[in-house]
Amino acid sequence: MSELILVTGGAGFIGSHTCVALVAAGYTPVILDNLGNSDVRVLRRLATITGKTIEFIEGDVRDRALLDRLFREHAIAAVMHFAGLKAVGDSVADPLHYYDNNVNGTLVLAAAMRAAGVKTLIFSSSATVYGEPESSPIPESAPCRPESPYGHSKRMVEQMLADLHVAQPDWRIALLRYFNPVGAHQSGLIGEHPQGKPNNLMPYVCQVAVGLRDRLAVHGGDYPTPDGTGVRDYVHVMDLAEGHVAALSHAALAPGLVTVNLGTGQGASVLDVVKAFELASGQPIAYDIGPRRAGDVPAYWGDPSLAHSTLRWKARRGLQQMCEDSWRWQKSNPKGYGN
Ligand code: NAD
Ligand code: WQD
Repeated sequence: MSELILVTGGAGFIGSHTCVALVAAGYTPVILDNLGNSDVRVLRRLATITGKTIEFIEGDVRDRALLDRLFREHAIAAVMHFAGLKAVGDSVADPLHYYDNNVNGTLVLAAAMRAAGVKTLIFSSSATVYGEPESSPIPESAPCRPESPYGHSKRMVEQMLADLHVAQPDWRIALLRYFNPVGAHQSGLIGEHPQGKPNNLMPYVCQVAVGLRDRLAVHGGDYPTPDGTGVRDYVHVMDLAEGHVAALSHAALAPGLVTVNLGTGQGASVLDVVKAFELASGQPIAYDIGPRRAGDVPAYWGDPSLAHSTLRWKARRGLQQMCEDSWRWQKSNPKGYGN
């Protein structure tokens, strides 16, 4: 009998791709999502890719009565908790909204899990908890100095779950710190479609390539990096999805708490991304080098060696494939799930 995995935020970018990886690994995902930043039409695409109809419950992780009912009616074996808000700038503008969604949301979820006796939790954390690192690659032991309410909310949840684990050592918890997730499923049927003007580099480049935006503004060309532009550790969303399945298999081995970076260990600059995308799409990407963006770190990338040794997971897809898969999704779905 296939294990049921509750995927909160499963209609979103990373959650939807993880549902594909879960089905491929023989699990049965059940999605809980309030559709605040996603489109219900992703479900039909998931059915096309997986050949399975994934159960969807529309609702909020902060709704305790809904969670109690959900756990009563489903024999959930583990929870993957993606549901959360992720725009750094919005978190500065409305911190209480972010703490409510991200911290209170996880608190309500963990309490409902405890009441239902579900003790396996994979949590979407972020490399943003490191803030500006002393050096790269960043190991998990590096100090955490988040710089935004969003980053603080992720760190607070990590602390809350670590405290829970001290009190209840029979829990199995993975805190996964993602670097910069990009790309799309290779079918081109699911991908990332931000609402409004994209904040992040890859969706912006995609929209320039498809003609929705005129030019990319490169935020700073005078950083102390090889070409002067910012350097990040971009990681393919299907690699991340497989990392979650690896974390679930690891959790099945024994109770415990692990904190693990999910990245490639390789840095790429803004101009590296532009060049790789031009090659992947055959489209020129017009850009201007502008001022630095407030709050940006010049360069960082992760040390993924703990993920290799603990989870037996390694990112397999390179920057070129990230761009090819992003482009396949973007060109066939310029307006997202509405096409
Ligand atoms: P996303 O916005 O595409 O997905 C999040 C999903 O959660 C959305 O479908 C949204 O509707 C849902 N949601 C939000 N709040 C909810 C709530 N209270 N109840 C129910 N559903 C809710 O974002 P994503 O890129 O897929 O990110 C998933 C998780 O990974 C988030 O927690 C995010 O903070 C974390 N993360 C993302 C990145 C990134 O760059 N994409 C990097 C590091 C960490
Ligand atoms: C990447 C590089 C920009 C847009 C953010 C969050 C982080 C995590 C991942 C959730 C930087 C440059 C960007 C543009 C540009 N999310 N850039 N022009 O800032 O590394 O990380 O997403 O946890 O918390 O902060 O990602 O894609 O915005 O930027 O030149 O229009 O691209 O300056 O060097 P970032 P990004």
